[in-house]
Amino acid sequence: MTIGIVGAGQLGQMLALAGYPLGLDFLFFDRSADTPAGRIAPLLAGEFHDETLLAELARRSDVISFDWENISVGALRRAAHGTRIAPPLSALAVAQDRLAEKRCFERLSIPTTRFASVDSRASLSRAVDRVGLPGVLKTRRFGYDGKGQYVLRSRADIEPAWDALGSAPLLYEEFVPFEYEVSIIGVRTRAGEIGVYPLNRNYHVDGILRLTLAPWIAPALARAAQRALHKLLEHFNYVGVLTIEFFVHRGRLLANEIAPRVHNSGHWTIEGAVTSQFENHVRAIAGLPLGATAPRGHSAMINLIGTMPAAHSFLAEPGLHWHDYRKEPRHGRKLGHCTINESTASRRTARAKQLLPRLYPQLALRP
Ligand SMILES: Nc1ncnc2c1ncn2[C@@H]1O[C@H](COP(=O)(O)OP(=O)(O)O)[C@@H](O)[C@H]1O
Ligand SMILES: [Mg+2]
Repeated sequence: MTIGIVGAGQLGQMLALAGYPLGLDFLFFDRSADTPAGRIAPLLAGEFHDETLLAELARRSDVISFDWENISVGALRRAAHGTRIAPPLSALAVAQDRLAEKRCFERLSIPTTRFASVDSRASLSRAVDRVGLPGVLKTRRFGYDGKGQYVLRSRADIEPAWDALGSAPLLYEEFVPFEYEVSIIGVRTRAGEIGVYPLNRNYHVDGILRLTLAPWIAPALARAAQRALHKLLEHFNYVGVLTIEFFVHRGRLLANEIAPRVHNSGHWTIEGAVTSQFENHVRAIAGLPLGATAPRGHSAMINLIGTMPAAHSFLAEPGLHWHDYRKEPRHGRKLGHCTINESTASRRTARAKQLLPRLYPQLALRP
């Protein structure tokens, strides 16, 4: 069986690495073969909207998935010609548009931030009146790693925020002075079997995930996150892995966004869960039974961003796992990650505290 995947980044690479032992083949589609997944699997190179190439991907695949969200839903639907696509394009379409995403949360009674749609300078001004200050202006589409966002602290920021982002459809939402951030990752099969990973606690700096601690033990929050996850999985008749990011504010969850795919905050599951998120995504879309999602010990995942440290001095750390995506270094770019696994939560957190200053000397990140 061949799994076709649009996007050949590190997520695609980790999907293929998880699928090969199951006897599955992979075919990727991306702009260049010089990509993390392109180095370990066959790849079709072309522009993402190229329907001839997408149709070839569909013809040569038994099921199509994606490791990247900013692809054309219409082009993929037209090119698929009956080849199954998982996760469903309806979920991808919602995840691509922050306004559709917020409305979907509202429809399913999943608490989220106050928001307003913005498509003109006057409507931004009205949105600020209605939602209040401080707030965050975000592009509805194409945002990732905090890109396409502008924080407004006073009305004087309306002008520069509009100048910075005003050429695209926008969403304005309240700035949430959250206690912390969490995410939940779940997986659903075609037959409706559901697996849920434990809660992740996530630390972002400048909009980019730096550190995840998992499992994060917070039973009431975990129950609320699971309820939201089940609602979304059933709503979309979902197949594959789905992630929800939340703010924890006044002890309650506010949904921030969804990702219809494997997620950076779940990288720890490679070494820290019975079955990784990557393997379970592949199992679900290939029509195989799910593997257990239970954690093995307590994990901390640290992203390696901008420059790749030399592995040598870190590999000597007991129980540390190193993942180099072999990408060109660039400011703010995710180049790799490392995971440590410990027998207790307090040992795990103590290890993360020791490692973080070595990897992020310039950042005050305190788990
Ligand atoms: N309304 C908000 N209030 C406070 N912080 C926010 C808000 N929106 C985003 N952030 C911060 O920026 C990060 C990235 O924003 P997010 O909306 O998740 O976009 P993306 O991950 O697609 O870039 C969040 O994880 C959070 O740390
Ligand atoms: Mg996010």
